[in-house]
Amino acid sequence: MVRETWATRVGFILAAVGSAVGLGNIWRFPFVTGQEGGSAFLLVYLLFIALIGFPAILVEFVIGRRTKLNPVGALRELGSGLWNHVGWLFVITGFVILSYYSVVAGWFLRYTLIGITDGYAAGAASPEAAGALFGSVATGLDSLLFHAIFMAIVIGIIAAGVRSGIEIAVKVMVPAIVVLLVGLAAYGFTLDASTEAYAYYLSPDFGVILENWTSILPAAAGQAFFTLSLGMGVMITYASYLGEDRNLAEDAGVIVGLDTLIAVVVGFVVFPFLFAAGLSPGDGGAGEIFVSLTVAFTEIPAGRFIGVVFFGMVGIAALSSAISILEVVTSYLIDERDLDRVPAAASIGVAIFLLGIPVTIDLVFLDLLDKFADDVLLVLGALLLSVFVGWVVPELARDELEKGIGDLGRLGTAWIWIVRIPIIAVVFISLYLGVVEYVDFLTDDFAAWLAAR
Ligand code: TRP
Repeated sequence: MVRETWATRVGFILAAVGSAVGLGNIWRFPFVTGQEGGSAFLLVYLLFIALIGFPAILVEFVIGRRTKLNPVGALRELGSGLWNHVGWLFVITGFVILSYYSVVAGWFLRYTLIGITDGYAAGAASPEAAGALFGSVATGLDSLLFHAIFMAIVIGIIAAGVRSGIEIAVKVMVPAIVVLLVGLAAYGFTLDASTEAYAYYLSPDFGVILENWTSILPAAAGQAFFTLSLGMGVMITYASYLGEDRNLAEDAGVIVGLDTLIAVVVGFVVFPFLFAAGLSPGDGGAGEIFVSLTVAFTEIPAGRFIGVVFFGMVGIAALSSAISILEVVTSYLIDERDLDRVPAAASIGVAIFLLGIPVTIDLVFLDLLDKFADDVLLVLGALLLSVFVGWVVPELARDELEKGIGDLGRLGTAWIWIVRIPIIAVVFISLYLGVVEYVDFLTDDFAAWLAAR
């Protein structure tokens, strides 16, 4: 069977943007920013995106376009020895991430529906009530049901294929996200609390950066990789469907730029809502945004409508990301195992659904999976890919990047050296800190949870 390609350049860019813009931008970004000191973190994060994220996305693009294969096959074709097996890591990472990502995305669907059918008032009579509402949504049968619904939609899109599934879906979803988000930000601007919120968000305190750099740096690096969907071969897979040699650097610039712009705008949405409800950002935790926003949506004018739009918009963003994760694993089964697309997508999707079930039972499993994927697996994947391109196949990578651009001269050399030293150093330090943190979690929180059984 002939391998599919994108119908249009815009289709490829929107698919990559759709993958990049997701729960990472909306659910994770505000609470990481809050925890790490607001604007101080924002500044470091923007630097990381430009210096590390942009060159790193090109690493995946060149591998995908050169081989026109899934990540496992791509590394097998270009590498030898141990590199033949590294692609497996990506398949495993995809399983782990999508299993909990789908559960969390299901919560957003549920909150959208709650807004439509009941409004948020019942859940927000007090912080306790908001917490109880979140508890009932996050675990139990409801959570399982919405996890199942979300996975079914993801499977449906991936089963339909690259052009008639992913490409059509993202051409609707990404513009919808942008329009809804800009509308919400404009609304946030009208709130009295916006001045205070913007000040918190936009005036970096360099003292905070200096004092907390050991936690800000890895958090900013981790967030930069996560938000650009790097470290598990999503961008390899999407670039493998490119039919012609376009200017990859230009595409990467548009993708990274849009993802960053959207993340920054999310701050203009979430922080005014929180400040308007008299809440302070960054008390932390996965449920935080649900609990504080339901309170906010009962306080601000037209809050119920705004809440439905907000939660719905996040649900769409999560969907356009989730499909990219399932596509990685599906493309592996199609290329390497000769499976047809529909059974490949369906069987993997069901397996991922099953793996996510524990998260719907106890939120400790969310931490168990999220921290493992985020602190360890993705960073390890990014590290291996950077070593591969920077040290194993630099000539070939540079040659591939120059297709569609022309001779890059010194810029090409600079790119290889950025990958070779600074990116690898930053990712290596993040990996070290991430492993330490994860072991800490296992021996501490998770052990305590086990002991309490
Ligand atoms: N980038 C997405 C977000 O910000 C999440 C995501 C999708 C992802 N695919 C990924 C993260 C692959 C890491 C790897 O929500």
